Amino acid sequence: MMKSDISANNKKLAMEKTSLWRPGSHLSSTVRDMPPSGIRKFFDIVVGMEDVISLGVGEPDFATPWHIREACIYSLEGGHTSYTPNKGLFELREILAESTKEDLGLDYDPEEEILITTGVSEAVDLAFRATINPGDEVIVPQPCYVAYVPDVLLAGGVPRPVATRLSEEFKLRPEDFQDAINEKTKALILSYPNNPTGAIMTREDLEEIADLVVENDLLVISDEVYDKLTYNGRHTSFAQLEGMQERTVLLNGMSKSCAMTGWRVGYALGDPAILGAMTKVHQYTMLCAPTMAQVAAVEAIRRGEKEIKAMNREYDRRRRLFVSELERLGLPCFEPKGAFYAFPSIEGTGLSSEEFAEQLLKEQKVAAVPGNAFGESGEGFLRCSYATSREEILEAVDRIERFLAGLGL
Ligand SMILES: Cc1ncc(COP(=O)(O)O)c(C=O)c1O
Repeated sequence: MMKSDISANNKKLAMEKTSLWRPGSHLSSTVRDMPPSGIRKFFDIVVGMEDVISLGVGEPDFATPWHIREACIYSLEGGHTSYTPNKGLFELREILAESTKEDLGLDYDPEEEILITTGVSEAVDLAFRATINPGDEVIVPQPCYVAYVPDVLLAGGVPRPVATRLSEEFKLRPEDFQDAINEKTKALILSYPNNPTGAIMTREDLEEIADLVVENDLLVISDEVYDKLTYNGRHTSFAQLEGMQERTVLLNGMSKSCAMTGWRVGYALGDPAILGAMTKVHQYTMLCAPTMAQVAAVEAIRRGEKEIKAMNREYDRRRRLFVSELERLGLPCFEPKGAFYAFPSIEGTGLSSEEFAEQLLKEQKVAAVPGNAFGESGEGFLRCSYATSREEILEAVDRIERFLAGLGL
């Protein structure tokens, strides 16, 4: 065959193959089969609607305190725009080691036991990817933050949801935890104060879980991003329990307590072997968290306490107002003890969580998230963020009242 014939033939073959090209057939089956986040799906409806009151987004309505923004501006002016070490700015790791010692009484070595991540979201993903082998099971108490189940699946693991219930104040019961453990169980992800329920677990509650963790030789990934947002006393970290520091990958970040969601700074604290493995994944995927955001995080930890406390006091006022109004409307609501979400039961209305949320949005333009977006055991509930102004909360309450009246309730 002549050279020109070969090239014509190759072109013909390429054309034929192109006509067969279906990009969808090249997707990973894990990703293809993964449902989109129940929160995002719902908020696609909100886009383009006017006059909506949003109780939907899980982020503070406050802007980041000015001195924190200013620290970032100065750093940019100084030309600090290059990469930081993979593990994060040493100054940030050092101040985190100091503040963790002060807050929790725990020592972490800034060289080997602290990793700065792009938000807690990245830290959760890294913790699973660094520890899970195909088929390993991870116990996921639900309702919970929407990323845990997909992150376990992306790591090749098998999520094992365990329901928590209103009657148990949405705490993980040792009996339910025990029942979910088998020979394939490798880890438990704990998340208190909890999104979406606002539940906390006391030291005594956690101690019962710790006993089973030791008995079954499990790793605990503890997402404590709402640790500073508690309303009835101080938060207990799982890592503070006797013997638990070495078994716990403790995750936290700046997003919620410092009103810094858009900056993308989180961190992981834990055993050097696990942190080293997480750092390996991080260095190949993220390289480092944003430099200027890390500078801002140093300022937030060093001088942000006053504003954090002021924001907390305001969330607490809103919490009490909102929960009492929901009760007045006949929607029983568990008293949230942490984070900034109320999780009223809508079971008495006869509607499912999705029906309630969709109809409330369409008829009264109030956006809230159906409870089942956080796991099956969230069915019958609605997640409402009270990280919004008191005026907006009261307007939302009026609209919910009109919606309930329209249902004949
Ligand atoms: C429990 C929990 N963990 C992690 C995150 C994500 O935090 P970050 O913004 O630091 O990625 C959220 C956000 O809603 C959350 O509720």
